[in-house]
Amino acid sequence: MSVPPVSGDVPLPPFGQGRHLLSVSQFDRAGLQALFDVAEVVRPIAQRNGVCTVLDGAMLGSLFFEPSTRTRLSFESAFLRLGGEVTTTTGFTFSSMAKGESIADTARVVSGYSDVLVVRHPDVGSVAQFAAASVVPVINGGDGAGEHPSQALLDCYTLEQELAARGKPMDGCRLAILGDLRFGRTVHSLIRLMSLYDDIAFTLFAPAGLELPEEVSSVALARGHRVRVAPSVVDAVRGADAVYATRVQRERLTDERSASSLVGDLLNRSMLEQAGNLEAVIMHPLPRDSRPGSYDLSSDVDDLPGLAIFHQTDNGLAIRMAIFLTVLGVSTEAVHLTTKQRPWRADLRA
Ligand code: NCD
Repeated sequence: MSVPPVSGDVPLPPFGQGRHLLSVSQFDRAGLQALFDVAEVVRPIAQRNGVCTVLDGAMLGSLFFEPSTRTRLSFESAFLRLGGEVTTTTGFTFSSMAKGESIADTARVVSGYSDVLVVRHPDVGSVAQFAAASVVPVINGGDGAGEHPSQALLDCYTLEQELAARGKPMDGCRLAILGDLRFGRTVHSLIRLMSLYDDIAFTLFAPAGLELPEEVSSVALARGHRVRVAPSVVDAVRGADAVYATRVQRERLTDERSASSLVGDLLNRSMLEQAGNLEAVIMHPLPRDSRPGSYDLSSDVDDLPGLAIFHQTDNGLAIRMAIFLTVLGVSTEAVHLTTKQRPWRADLRA
């Protein structure tokens, strides 16, 4: 298979706010498109069709103070696939924060060891505090119930592709968003980022007490989009081009009773059938809570044609590569020059 074509330099998107990536509010539509263009360039490398060493000698400090599988591993894989090296700390227990070290001290210290940091932390605003004390770029891997910019970027990138495959543009998209909209940071970032497009119709369904914060819906409304709260999942899903389901963020719920009252499925095949919408694009940031009655996306939708949840995870690699290239100021020309054919083959689908 082919390595990225040598075809001129694709301009890097400006992020603003120094060279940190903290919030999707750093993007305008041109910046978003520019990031997607860089992701297209590195996509063959993410798909293992080329071996790249453009980040040779660079070190990623990966600091995850909350559980993570795909965000941490895909950021780390993205960095390694670009030829860099990775050091990791997971959890408070194994870091000096367990000894009372401040965010500022930790950030200054670890930024002296690394060329870029990815940080996930349970407190809203904590990653921005990290960035303020860091001497290298910081990427927000999720700050509590705040934001998750890289997830929203890969969600938009995926949705754009899924709709394009159906001959539809993002402008005018009807998107149903279901689940824990209060604590689900992926949804907060997604709605803000989708608001950069034109004429989006958001339909929301959340269980009582887990509704979307007004500060998020107001961003969409201020840009002239429609935001409707639906009385049921079936109602929300009817007529939607795409459905984005999210897990109940049980770790952020202080009232245990409200969590235990949520049983059964959030979204399943029969609900899509009742809504007459078995063709909808189905998205989820994952992890999906697959324990019985966990009030999440049922696996009985997995053979539907619109299932896009693993396209999201696969796309996450290219998007995170594009983020690293941007914050480190690496041109796509340099990527072309340092990419060669790979002599091995791993993908069983190839
Ligand atoms: C999400 C997160 O951590 O915010 N997962 C992810 O990064 N893909 C969603 C979740 O935990 O529910």
